[in-house]
Amino acid sequence: MEPLRIVQISDTHFGDELKPDKFKRAVKQINALEPELVIVSGDITTWGIHREFRDAYEALGDIKAELFVIPGNHDARNDGLKYFRLYFGDVKKSIKLDDMIIVGVNSTLPDSDEGYIGEEQMHWVEKKFRNSCINMLVLHHHVIPVPHTGRNRNVLIDAGEIVESLMFHCHGGVVLSGHRHVPYSTKLLRTHIIHAGTLSSYKVLMPDNNYNIIEFNKEFIRLKLRFVDHGEVDIGRFAIKHGMPRAISVYHSLSSTKRVLFVATDIKQAKNAASIFNKISPENMHASVVSTQNKRLAELLAGADYVVGFDEFKNADEIWKTGISENEIERKVRELVEKLLMEVET
Ligand SMILES: [Fe+2]
Ligand SMILES: [Fe+2]
Repeated sequence: MEPLRIVQISDTHFGDELKPDKFKRAVKQINALEPELVIVSGDITTWGIHREFRDAYEALGDIKAELFVIPGNHDARNDGLKYFRLYFGDVKKSIKLDDMIIVGVNSTLPDSDEGYIGEEQMHWVEKKFRNSCINMLVLHHHVIPVPHTGRNRNVLIDAGEIVESLMFHCHGGVVLSGHRHVPYSTKLLRTHIIHAGTLSSYKVLMPDNNYNIIEFNKEFIRLKLRFVDHGEVDIGRFAIKHGMPRAISVYHSLSSTKRVLFVATDIKQAKNAASIFNKISPENMHASVVSTQNKRLAELLAGADYVVGFDEFKNADEIWKTGISENEIERKVRELVEKLLMEVET
């Protein structure tokens, strides 16, 4: 299958920081590449003011390919996102290109350089991702620090959550960011993390302004770094691997909470078992007791992660005999704790 071509540009910084000639030359080159899509990963403007957005909209209009634009921290200055929406539509968006799903989010906070995605947006992203596709997340801020940028702050406030979510849901995934004005790429397990430098800002931390050319099909991604006036560097060709890396799911499973329910008709022994359980169990587990006569039994069973029934209650993960000695109860509880601790869902 012929690879598809995407161009990623970032940090154009219309306004005080713009190098207009650089921008114009880059647009000519990009049009000659005939990409399927041009992704703009934020900081379109410098101060988030209307004139900068209007100029950016007009200049980006010279790009013949479809545009996929998300905001950066500079665009969120001075209540700038209202102008972003006026010219570039929603601050979060998605598009499907052949086998690739591209999901862009707003990682900005008003008048702040820090980045944040939040649970709501991330759940929206997770719903968009498909295991059968290459999943691409586009956001302005970087999910891991970019070395050699002089200052590696401004990682997302919720970077840990986002990275884990990517591991779980972004199988065969790619993350595109901008922000630091330094092109860089690395791999986190199966997720390729690609940063674009600045296309046209004076604040350039490289030999020249630059952008990324990304070619992909179902099996690989090819990444090239293009300097506007100083040629192209082939960064590499990377195989796409689907599926979740086991290590991440092991950690996640170990840290998940577990509700244990002891069910009995005569709850005396069950109470004793729950009390021992809660004394010795790790911090992520808790046991409670319910009588078989309880009207809310079905609801409580549905909410439990593991059910121990005494003789008279068979609808359980494990059944214990009634009338066993206190020592035997303690031994069984210890066994149960170990079992639940080591039970790893992958
Ligand atoms: Fe920037
Ligand atoms: Fe930025």
